[in-house]
Order: sequence, then structure tokens, then C-alpha cells
Amino acid sequence: MTVPAPSQALLVTLLDPAQRADPYPVYRQILDGGPLQMPENNLHVFSSFADCDEVLRHPASCSDRLKSTTAQRAIAAGQHPRPFGTPGFLFLDPPDHTRLRRLVGKAFSPKVVKALEPDIAAMVDGLLDEVAEAGEFEAIADLAYPLPVAVICRLLGVPIEDEPKFSSASALLGQGLDPFIAFTGESPGAEERLQAGLWLRGYLRDLMERRRAEPADDLISGLIAVEESGDQLTEEEIVATCNLLLIAGHETTVNLIANAILAMLRHREQWTALAADADRAPGIVEETLRYDPPVQLVGRVAGADMTIGEARIPKGDTMMLLLAAAQRDPGVTERPDDFDPTREAIRHLAFGKGPHFCLGAPLARMEAAVTLSAVTRRFPRARLAGEPAYKPNVTLRGMASLPVALS
Ligand code: HEM
Repeated sequence: MTVPAPSQALLVTLLDPAQRADPYPVYRQILDGGPLQMPENNLHVFSSFADCDEVLRHPASCSDRLKSTTAQRAIAAGQHPRPFGTPGFLFLDPPDHTRLRRLVGKAFSPKVVKALEPDIAAMVDGLLDEVAEAGEFEAIADLAYPLPVAVICRLLGVPIEDEPKFSSASALLGQGLDPFIAFTGESPGAEERLQAGLWLRGYLRDLMERRRAEPADDLISGLIAVEESGDQLTEEEIVATCNLLLIAGHETTVNLIANAILAMLRHREQWTALAADADRAPGIVEETLRYDPPVQLVGRVAGADMTIGEARIPKGDTMMLLLAAAQRDPGVTERPDDFDPTREAIRHLAFGKGPHFCLGAPLARMEAAVTLSAVTRRFPRARLAGEPAYKPNVTLRGMASLPVALS
């Protein structure tokens, strides 16, 4: 790759771990510069709300990475197109995307999610009981992480006792979404991620065989029953779907809960207000999704020649959408850098838009609202006990630790 032009250098800056605590000034610089088009790299980076919104809704936007010119070139050079096997439906297009999404859609519908609320509230209370005994807590390890991982494990039928086994593989696969290849042409840690991905698929395949022998009341058993009843999906597709749901179900929600706790503790009046009135929780959740989103960027491939705003994108080129920048677009949100859950309209793309709109959005919103109202009510005088530390992740950006004192 040649020496980066100034605009490209900003993208490389974004990858620097030193930016992780506060990447927003760099996002703003990128937004102010307009779309970054690097035709020689077959890459186009959008950061305004209007452009990101348009790409997500555009009928020619594809999610199957094999349709990209760069992937086709790699295949032509002898690389294996899909070393993990078939991808989860997040990375598929119709008709496969539609078919697989429909098969699991019901399990995450608002009605089903609503029925889970009492159980989830009890799980949160259990975690907070443990915190109360200790007198201080580490918001990630003690609350924001254990809740979503327990919930998605229970829904899928993955034994929670196995969490120590799959947690590092899941974390590494989450890091695989970082745009190193697109922005620099290099992919540090790719071999380790490949091994983690193969291990997790093997683990899920074994679990599937156990459920096939002994079905339970969970999603894996449900998908096996569908597989056995006809030709609606294959065994490999079940593994890929469970793999997607397991990772998407917790590597993101942990960051929504933690980012909201941090934002409220930095705007202390919001913590106190929520402690006094649980009805404020949805506003806190939506503003956190806008202000500090758990998924900072998503990608698409142009399935045909496209025009977005004034930018022309040839078929096969990759488009990166910097959602975290778009959600602070001053053309759409007044005072975008203020955390203000009371603003009249909170506009964000934190769950995406269009056919790939987050399947787990109702679940994530409910888990976060229940957790945040419970933690503020239980510990109304909590305060930050130190600075947060961030994980290296760019795309699924989030904290590794967040120390909180209870009084
Ligand atoms: C705060 C938490 C969450 C955030 C911010 C989030 C964000 C997103 C985003 C931005 C997308 C779209 C990606 C794209 O268009 O390329 C997405 C898709 C998806 N999410 Fe979530 N997600 C969250 C929680 C969850 C949970 C709890 C689940 C569990 C079921 C989940 C499952 C999925 C699935 C299966 C997709 C793929 C949908 C499709 O391709 O049709 N997510 N999520």
C-alpha cells in the first residue's frame, strides 16, 4: 500500500488504541471532510447521517463480502473464500438472508422479549445482591457482561458454565470486525482469530449433536427440529446462526449497559433522576445508543454501480459507514456532543436500518433498561472510582473495566 493521503491518515488514526477512550474528535474531523473515496483501494467511507442512512436503505447495498472486488481478487490469488464455513446471515443477502432470518425472528420478537422481562429483572437483582455485599463494583465484570451473556446462553441453550471456554474465542471474533484490512491492507492477529472461529464452530457443532440426542426448550433444539422436518436449513447453517447469535447477543449489549453507566456517572444528575424515576430508562438507552454506540461502524458492498449523495461507487467496491460519526452529525442533532436523554427526538442508526436491522434490538433495549433502572435505584449515590480502561476493539468498541464506588 502507498503512503496514506491526509484523509486516509485520519482513518489509520482511528485504529490507534490511544483513540479508543474518545474517538469522537477524529470522527468529527472525518465527517467535516465529507465522504472519503479511495478508488484505488475500492473503498468509500461515509460519515454523514444522510449518507449512512441512504447506503443502509439502498437496494444495491449487499452484505455478502464475497461480492467485493477485493474478495474476488483474493480468491483469484488462491485464498480460501470462507475459511470459517458458511457465514451468519448478517453477512448474507437474499434469498438466504431472508430465509435464515425468518427462522429465528420469532424468538426475538417484541412479544417474546416482553415475556422474558421478569426473569431478566430477577437475574439483575441477583447480580446486584452480590455487588451490595462487596461495597464497590467493577461495572463490566460484575454487571454489564454477565447479564447479556447469561441471557443469550439461556435462549440459545448454551450452558453458561461453558462461558470461560468460549469467551476468549467470542472476543477475538468480535475484534475480527475491525476494519484493519480495509484501512491499512493488513490484518494483525488473523491466524489467531481463524483458530478461535474454527474452535467456536466445533464447540457449537458438538453442542448441536448433544441437543439432537436430547432436545431441550431452546433455540438450538428448535432449529434442529426445523432442519429435521424438511429442507429449510442445513446443519452448517444452524452452527453459523448460533455462532452469530451468541456473539451478537452479548459482545454489544455489554457495551450499551456500560456506556450508559459511564455517561450517567459523568452527568451525575442523570443517575439521580433515573434512580427516582424508572420511566426515564428508555430515554437514557436511546441517547446512549446515539452518543456512544456499541457498534461504531458497519460495512456494505456495492452490488451494482451506485450514487450516494454526490459520490459514485462502482460495483464491487466496499463502503464503510461510520455510524458513530453520523450520530453526532450536527446537521441532524443539535449539540451532538452533549449527552442529553431529554432531547426531543433522538435520531440514531445504532441498530442499523433496512433488511439487516438488528434482530436483537428489543432484547438489548429491554436488558439495558431493566439493568440501568435497577442499578441506579439500588445505589443512588454511586460514583466513578477511577477512569475506565478500553478494549482495543474499533468496531465493537467498549470498556474492559469501569470501577464504581457505591457511596
Ligand atoms: C446494544 C446492543 C446491540 C447493538 C448496538 C446491535 C447493533 C446491531 C447492528 C448495527 C446491526 C446491523 C449490522 C449491519 O447492518 O451490518 C445488528 C444486526 C444484528 N444483531 Fe444486533 N445489536 C445489539 C444487540 C443484539 C442482540 C442482543 C442480539 C441477539 C439476538 C443481536 C443480534 C443481531 C443479529 C442476528 C443481527 C443480524 C441481522 C441481519 O443481518 O438481518 N444484536 N446489530
